[in-house]
Amino acid sequence: MRPAETEPKVPRSPGGWWREAVVYQVYIRSFADSNGDGVGDIEGLRGRLGYLEELGVDAVWITPWYRSPMADGGYDVADYRDIDPLFGTLDDARALIADAHARGMRVIVDIVPNHTSSEHPWFREALASPRGSAARLRYHFRDGRGPAGAEPPNNWQSLFGGPSWTPAPDDGLEPRQWYLHLFDTSQPDLNWDNARVGAEFESILDFWLDVGVDGFRIDVACFLLKEPGLPDFPAYGTDPGGDHPHNDLEGVHEIYKGWRRVVERRGGRAVFCGEINLPAERIARYLRPGELHTAFNFDFALRPWDAAELRASIDETLASHAAVGAPATWVIGNHDLPRPVFKYGRALNAASWNAWSRAEPSDQTLGVARARAAALLYLALPGSAYIYQGDELGLPEVLDLQPDVRQDPTFRRTGGADVGRDGCRIPMPWSGDEPPFGFGPAGSRPWLPQPAAWAALTVDAEARDSRSMLSLYRDALAIRRRHPGMAGEEFRWLPGPSGTLVFARGELHCAVNLSEAQLPLPENASILLASSPVSGGRLAPDSAAWFEVPAD
Ligand code: NOJ
Repeated sequence: MRPAETEPKVPRSPGGWWREAVVYQVYIRSFADSNGDGVGDIEGLRGRLGYLEELGVDAVWITPWYRSPMADGGYDVADYRDIDPLFGTLDDARALIADAHARGMRVIVDIVPNHTSSEHPWFREALASPRGSAARLRYHFRDGRGPAGAEPPNNWQSLFGGPSWTPAPDDGLEPRQWYLHLFDTSQPDLNWDNARVGAEFESILDFWLDVGVDGFRIDVACFLLKEPGLPDFPAYGTDPGGDHPHNDLEGVHEIYKGWRRVVERRGGRAVFCGEINLPAERIARYLRPGELHTAFNFDFALRPWDAAELRASIDETLASHAAVGAPATWVIGNHDLPRPVFKYGRALNAASWNAWSRAEPSDQTLGVARARAAALLYLALPGSAYIYQGDELGLPEVLDLQPDVRQDPTFRRTGGADVGRDGCRIPMPWSGDEPPFGFGPAGSRPWLPQPAAWAALTVDAEARDSRSMLSLYRDALAIRRRHPGMAGEEFRWLPGPSGTLVFARGELHCAVNLSEAQLPLPENASILLASSPVSGGRLAPDSAAWFEVPAD
């Protein structure tokens, strides 16, 4: 049990702090490096908690910090109950959690149940064990097809490119056996039909609840179960749900009901956020009473900068979540997606718009203006909001990384056709005029190089500039915290010209101008915050404002 003095501050929402929390995502390798080895760590994060408190966030989600060969940045876990030495120790984790709690912030950790690392003792044991053994039944081993089993058992493709099957070491028998990995070869998928796997993960949840965490973000939460027989799937890679052979199978809900019982048994203090990239009505099924608390809203993050598109996403999200009594989450970036200033700076014609793509050109100035407006949009919506580290600085996507420094397995598995996600994972710039920009001690070399131009985007530089992205986020979070309109779930659309989004929550109004014309605000509008200067009562294109309209 956590000591009383480290209890987080009292939540505003009577329904639970998580219903309206602002969650800051720490990609730990790239946040702050305390020991100069070039990789961010727990002590580095501990030293920067003051920054997060001042920014005004309610919780921190830390990407995987477990023992791992780091083939996929830690999403390849070799020991779920220990911290990787790169990041520190379990005692460091305990100290971090205590410090965060003392500052009134919660700590959410990432849990990766779909796959382990190939270095996990279970997988090593599986490779060393005979076919059909209990050790192999924790994963998906299957006979290959074709002569001597030389072909993969089915047509499934890895999300990182290439086949999702790798041959097991040759044991002299035919046909050859293969193992399934929906991501990298080094990330074998667990067999969730095996009760031993479920029991292990419930025990891992208990372990981290004992350490004192306040919740779990669940990696690819909808992938865990595979259709029996692992059949070929003609439309593989195109179908987001429904009859998909490994996405959103019905039985997965039983797993999360069990997980919910684990946290309820412990007083119900910890919360779940599922990474569930499905249409809104399918997501809502995971948020029914007795299942997960929240889910990461990809739909909103993937929509183009278009009023009708964003409005549709907001409507669908709010309606589907209300139907199950769950709060929405709002997201514009994470460690897998291109940076918002890059994403929103791209042409919007359907042929070129692809929120995941890093290959299409982007107008940086336009992207910054829109990302500022997007911040005021998503931070004003009812529910919980996520900020990916560095988005509050307006960091751009870094596109010119040399092949030899790239580490995302996607780059290698696609032969470079997909450059991968390293460009949104560049270590944070904190201060100073040259790399490592305070990320690590002077003279240290961050694991990915930082652009020299980031001198203008450091936390220190932006904190001194009242017009910076950081100042905008700080001001927005301060208003969000104290304005009565932001509490609770009230939300109403107001009329506005085509290409605009105008809504109110209590007395707080938000107008977003996605059109090419100026948007006149109500005559007596009293501006609380704007993403660009409001002149003559008009909001410029690609801008947003929060305001009140006092009664005459
Ligand atoms: C989703 C995570 O966000 C991503 O970074 C990771 O590569 C995959 N899941 C596989 O674990």
